[in-house]
Amino acid sequence: MNSSELKQLIEGIPKAELHLHIEGSFEPELMFEIAKRNNIAMDYDSIESLKKAYKFNNLQEFLDIYYIGAQVLIHEQDFFDLTWAYLTKVHSQNVKHVEVFFDPQTHTDRGIAFEVVISGIYKALEKAKDELGITYKLIMSYLRHLSEEEAFKTLESSIPFKDWIHGVGLDSSEMGNPPSKFEKVFKASAAQGYKLVAHAGEEGPSEYIWEALDLLNIVRIDHGNRCLDDEKLVKRLVKEQIPLTLCPLSNLELQVITKMEDHPAAKMLDKGILATIHSDDPAYFGGYMNENFYKTAKGLNLSVNQIKQLAINAFVGSWLSNTEKDKHIANIQSYFSSFEN
Ligand code: ADE
Ligand code: ZN
Repeated sequence: MNSSELKQLIEGIPKAELHLHIEGSFEPELMFEIAKRNNIAMDYDSIESLKKAYKFNNLQEFLDIYYIGAQVLIHEQDFFDLTWAYLTKVHSQNVKHVEVFFDPQTHTDRGIAFEVVISGIYKALEKAKDELGITYKLIMSYLRHLSEEEAFKTLESSIPFKDWIHGVGLDSSEMGNPPSKFEKVFKASAAQGYKLVAHAGEEGPSEYIWEALDLLNIVRIDHGNRCLDDEKLVKRLVKEQIPLTLCPLSNLELQVITKMEDHPAAKMLDKGILATIHSDDPAYFGGYMNENFYKTAKGLNLSVNQIKQLAINAFVGSWLSNTEKDKHIANIQSYFSSFEN
């Protein structure tokens, strides 16, 4: 299959996005526009100079810029516009279902009310459901560089909006902030009915994946690249079919891997791990779902069958009902069979 055929194949796949930070979808053009209407001076004098700063040696260098970018978001309309821009973009990429992270503390710590943040995001998600037919789940993520006590405050702020939130996650600086630091708040979050996920094994060791499983009781691992260091862990992930939401372009940009040819996605599929492909922070890492699928398929020389498996896995690992999952998976099967003929 040549490059343009591969591109075409990928574009037409009905896709699910399970690992996306809404603040990481903030394109520089929209950032400048919102900064201007909110009278906030940007540190960069042009979109081009901001984009030039998007060169990262590790996760922390990225996070430093990502948190600065989010500071121009003040009003409900800003959060709505951010979310709507993401949803219309992925609609054009045939994404049918999204499970979106937001980082409340990035905003509440600047004096923005939780209600302002979530209302803007929620209204855009609802509009996309009605007008674009995109289904969604919303995941509130705790910042792991902050204390567990602060995460508890966030959990409390979320209670009035419980019906809009489906799960909690754990993100930000991984090294030195193990899942065990958040054991109590994850237990309390589960008691509120939230599903649980956590970033683990992106830069951190495989021990953090064990902790996420055993201490936090997560149902899905975000990233999880480092699981391959530990045979026993791989066996457990396969046996329990714990989804791993991989983000290949993110891994490349944050130097988790040095070249796409080294990405563990294919190895994971071979071992029977429920690996899926997503975009993490697409405005910063050079691509949304299609670009992640395409660059991974190219770099790893994936077969059509492996590409199909990755697409199916995302729906399997989603929080849709079994009926909804079956419908999407049947659509993927039929898409691929028509492509093969
Ligand atoms: N927040 C946004 N993107 C992230 C990533 N890749 N890892 C941890 N925290 C994040
Ligand atoms: Zn992430």
